[in-house]
Amino acid sequence: MIECRHVFKQFNKKEVLKDCHFSLKKGENVGIMGESGTGKSTLARLLVGLEKASSGEILLDGKPYSAKEGAKVLLVFQDATHAVNPLFTVKEILTEARQDTVAQDELVSILNDVGLDESYLTKTSRQLSGGQLQRVCIARALLLKPEVIIFDEALSGLDPLIQGQLLRLLYQLKETYQQTYIFISHDFNLCYAICNRILVMFDGTIVDEITRFENPIQIHHPATQNLLVESQNPKYSKCQLRKMMVTLETK
Ligand SMILES: Nc1ncnc2c1ncn2[C@@H]1O[C@H](COP(=O)(O)OP(=O)(O)O)[C@@H](O)[C@H]1O
Ligand SMILES: [Mg+2]
Repeated sequence: MIECRHVFKQFNKKEVLKDCHFSLKKGENVGIMGESGTGKSTLARLLVGLEKASSGEILLDGKPYSAKEGAKVLLVFQDATHAVNPLFTVKEILTEARQDTVAQDELVSILNDVGLDESYLTKTSRQLSGGQLQRVCIARALLLKPEVIIFDEALSGLDPLIQGQLLRLLYQLKETYQQTYIFISHDFNLCYAICNRILVMFDGTIVDEITRFENPIQIHHPATQNLLVESQNPKYSKCQLRKMMVTLETK
């Protein structure tokens, strides 16, 4: 459904994306993994139409995508606190991007879907924890009924326990809404827990693809190896995610 065809992007003559080429099918969970500065967020901004490619094209269902016809591809950012107006209540956050009036029932139902209840509608973002606010941001995206949601490091920086809960939530939402997820992270464990395919970016281009997760994982580029080695670092609290993976697999 998404085709990214030989996409290049320059900023002030600096080539940030170089010949990015891939496609993804409806309903896939695709990871985009890479070190910081490899162009993942730039690619995400191009995919949602916040920026234009210098050359190449991005197609959604065979046509160039324009957000003007309705937001079909949405981005959920890492830092939820900067993604919302701190003075807004949860209700205002949820409804700000919708043109129409959203019925109270729909708001309550979407909050329930992300594991929050009606009482949150009147709270302001300052009264919520990071994980709760990220749930609100996910609910806000869901209310716009996108076909694709891109999570740009959306779980990075959260407590591993919360990461596990949100992974479980995304997995359940996927069953309900049948969306396509693009999951951007530098953390292999997070991608591994939810993706059926991982693209690896290095220096502005896609250098590797992981499609099979049995040991030993087959890789083709040193950048992938570096990311896998780094993901063994105990700071990533693997136990949490390993447990999570088992529940995902047996679901
Ligand atoms: N608007 C911009 N203007 C100039 N350079 C940019 C801009 N956005 C990103 N870059 C540069 O592009 C490179 C890739 O950035 P980014 O896409 O944020 O990488 P990642 O998300 O993988 O960390 C970085 O070197 C960054 O400085
Ligand atoms: Mg980034």
